[in-house]
Amino acid sequence: MCGIVGYIGHKAAQDVVIGGLRKLEYRGYDSAGVAVMTEHGLDHAKTKGRIAMLEEHLEGKALQGTVGIGHTRWATHGKPSNENSHPHLDATRKFAVVHNGIIENYLTIKEDLQKKGYEFVSETDTEVIAHLIADLYNGDIEATVRKAITMMRGAYALGIMTEYEPNKLIAVRLASPLIVGIGEGEAYIGSDIPAILEHTRDMYILNEGEMAVLTRDGIEITVAESGEPVERDIFHVDWDLVQAEKGGYDSFMLKEIHEQPQAMHDTIGSRIDLEHKSVVLPELKMSAEQLAAFDRMYIVACGTSMHAGLVAKEVIEKLTRIPVEVAIASEFRYRDPIFTEKTLVIVISQSGETADTLAALREAKKHGVTVLAISNVVGSSVAREADEVIYTWAGPEVAVASTKAYTCQSLALYLFAMYLSQIKGTQTKEQIAEMVDHLLEIPAQTATILENEASLREVAAKVTEGVQNLFFIGRGLDYAVTLEGSLKLKEISYIHSEAYAAGELKHGTLALIEDNVPVIALATQPELFDKTVSNIVEVKARGAYTLGFAFEGDTELAKTVDEVVYVPRTLPILSPVLTVIPMQLLAYFASTARGLDVDKPRNLAKSVTVE
Ligand code: G6P
Repeated sequence: MCGIVGYIGHKAAQDVVIGGLRKLEYRGYDSAGVAVMTEHGLDHAKTKGRIAMLEEHLEGKALQGTVGIGHTRWATHGKPSNENSHPHLDATRKFAVVHNGIIENYLTIKEDLQKKGYEFVSETDTEVIAHLIADLYNGDIEATVRKAITMMRGAYALGIMTEYEPNKLIAVRLASPLIVGIGEGEAYIGSDIPAILEHTRDMYILNEGEMAVLTRDGIEITVAESGEPVERDIFHVDWDLVQAEKGGYDSFMLKEIHEQPQAMHDTIGSRIDLEHKSVVLPELKMSAEQLAAFDRMYIVACGTSMHAGLVAKEVIEKLTRIPVEVAIASEFRYRDPIFTEKTLVIVISQSGETADTLAALREAKKHGVTVLAISNVVGSSVAREADEVIYTWAGPEVAVASTKAYTCQSLALYLFAMYLSQIKGTQTKEQIAEMVDHLLEIPAQTATILENEASLREVAAKVTEGVQNLFFIGRGLDYAVTLEGSLKLKEISYIHSEAYAAGELKHGTLALIEDNVPVIALATQPELFDKTVSNIVEVKARGAYTLGFAFEGDTELAKTVDEVVYVPRTLPILSPVLTVIPMQLLAYFASTARGLDVDKPRNLAKSVTVE
């Protein structure tokens, strides 16, 4: 998730662009850059670090001109560095591109271009776009870009300018958001509304697969591939800047919950070989043989990341039959873990900076153990120090309570488990293909759950109003995900809740169940369904108010519980990434109903860098 800004008009483009980028820093802040059409041609400046560094760099040597594009980066392909910063230019420096999102087939395009003699200076997927456009250019930038995008697969948004047609900006949206601002003799591009809000409140929101051509005389929107004109109503923005930063949502947490379909798509997209319906992990440096040799794994993390680890343990063990132990990072480092040369340690950290997780990683490294990191921040400490990294491409997470990072961590680990099982031959091609099919549906299924958000508000009111104590129960994977549902509720609503393995309740905790104590029960695992239902009956008999979670079509549960939440049907093994979504919303609605600050819960920090 990066930020794009573009401007064409009569003002100093550099100022407009950098001003817009400052408003988009919440989308990414590891490097920034700007390109401007000057009287000497296309010029640019870019640097690793925050936008302030770019401004410092440009002090006394501003790029003079009235057409420009800029970018603030949240690294995906390639660490934060000057070379990997945007804009990216082709070899002749006549074309400049800023990009948000992922080009899934960039390696194939890159290889083709390399064969033609193009030399690459960065590790990014974006640079291929600049070279590709230069390669295809036929004197008409619009036609060239239309052609180029037919060759690029992925979810992205682009801002493009060329010295050959200096009075024009091109904006393309394919999945990643992009808006175009309307002015008098000027026009703007922005990833989000805040980027241009100080200049105009009249905008066009581009839809997926659309292109806008911006000149000082106006804006033309077309279907990107065909060129067919599109009529679009003006979207007049009444929001203030703070509302706009949250995309119109009333908190970053709700915005991030809604960003999950995109984040999931980005995390899965380029790691699926669609032709063979299998998983590819090109980022892994170790060979298949080395990977297949591990006979034991530890997953080490804190908080929500540790909960993603609990899901992963079940999945890795089921798919590969390798034993996995999940450890809380602050415990792991002091307990003298048993390491052998066939042990793999997987550390999970959204920020990549959590002190306990980093210490656990160093402990493992001290013993010569291979460490694989799952992180959301490219170039973070955890990512740098681990031997191997699989990034989640969730984009920056601002709210303290983690949502999209959890689902993307889980998905990254599903991919890892599937990949390992392919190598080890513990699953058949058909079994993997079936999982791939279902995995690819998860983003759209998540979007469906989010469309029915209003019904969750009602459920949250019924289950949490006036409540001080609440229980979550489930078995197997359902139990793993209830731990996260319970943590979410505690963190932001301050309601005390506990997640229990449903069968364990009777060994003590059942004593706490009395009239109207809410119990949220997950029952998506077919082989455990009857057992979970018996446990629900046990708590009902003690007066509990019960809310069940089941797959659509599983109407049996409704006969036992007081209220049911249905989630779209998927393979039982994949259910955690869907059942967690309504649990996130329940926590969110419980918190807002109590008038609490959802994004900044008391006593908690987003990233804990002390022990
Ligand atoms: C803090 C946050 C949690 C997060 C945990 C681990 O406690 O409040 O939301 O899960 O740190 O963070 P990490 O960045 O390592 O995933």
